[in-house]
Amino acid sequence: MDLKEQILAYLGQIEATTLATSDEVEQFRIAWLGRKGILKDTMAAFKEAPNEQKRELGQLVNQLKKAAELCISSGAQGAETIDQEDNASHDWTRPDGGAPLGAHHPLSVVRRDIIGILERMGFVVTEGPEIEDDWHVFSGLNFPAEHPARDMQDTFFVDRDPDMLLRTHTSSVQVREMERRDPPMRIVMPGRVFRNEAISARAHCMFHQIEGLYIDEGVSFADLKQTLLRFAQEFFGPDTKIRLRPSYFPFTEPSAEVDVYWGLKTEVDKRITKGTGWLEILGCGMVDPAVLEASGIDSRKYSGFAFGMGVERITMLKYQIGDLRAFFESDLRFLDQFQGEY
Ligand code: DAH
Repeated sequence: MDLKEQILAYLGQIEATTLATSDEVEQFRIAWLGRKGILKDTMAAFKEAPNEQKRELGQLVNQLKKAAELCISSGAQGAETIDQEDNASHDWTRPDGGAPLGAHHPLSVVRRDIIGILERMGFVVTEGPEIEDDWHVFSGLNFPAEHPARDMQDTFFVDRDPDMLLRTHTSSVQVREMERRDPPMRIVMPGRVFRNEAISARAHCMFHQIEGLYIDEGVSFADLKQTLLRFAQEFFGPDTKIRLRPSYFPFTEPSAEVDVYWGLKTEVDKRITKGTGWLEILGCGMVDPAVLEASGIDSRKYSGFAFGMGVERITMLKYQIGDLRAFFESDLRFLDQFQGEY
């Protein structure tokens, strides 16, 4: 084999070589570029070659050197990553950065917390249909025929049957349960409700309520007040104060709205409480005897209280969320903030 053939054979050999680890790279470097390496010998042989071949052979020797260097540098790059993954040098106890985890929706977290508190007080969860008839949403709850809540503006009606509609509140489930059960009953009724409202930061056509109902002999307004105080202190903290303001609902008498004391420490406090320090969290009252009778419960023997709250509203208070629409947009930048809320 003359020198030219020898160099071409070397080039073929290098081309067929891939160096995986840093050990392999180092061995290759010594064998090819080292003091007693192949390139040294080739150079020596080149010097001996006849002058008329020098031009061509010189170019080939150069090519050989470049090929060996390239093989080393690309091998070194690959070896770096492989070395990092090498079992011997890998720290298996190092945290892996974690797979991205999902999180519970803030409305689910708050709904679960609210229900949990009421369950510990003896309330039992029941649910009812979202598509309801007029009786369970309005008539059975003492809504007069001309009540504005029945208006087309507020209620989604089912086209095919004007008696059917999307429930505008979970109070409809109270009626179903009073018809179905005999007192005593102590139930909590979560669910979705629908109102024909323009979607904005403060209103939506679909939202969630949680309704409570307690019927027994001798249930009084004091029981209602104590239940709600206890609930607010469990949910918002042990020092929470509440106040009851007289209000009106067709199905309760007397009726009240309940505020929690939020404070006036920050500008945000002032803004969201409109300067009063108090925030409304729910509506409540003593079930109107006419409502008990309409569902077949003897109002001389039994009395009861009811309350209903908006889950979005309470969630917005708890997490200081300014825009109701965020709950329904499924934007991960919003939802990821609740990772910690198991
Ligand atoms: N259903 C009422 C609403 O949607 C809330 C409510 C008020 C429910 C008083 C009650 C209650 O059970 O007693 O605005």
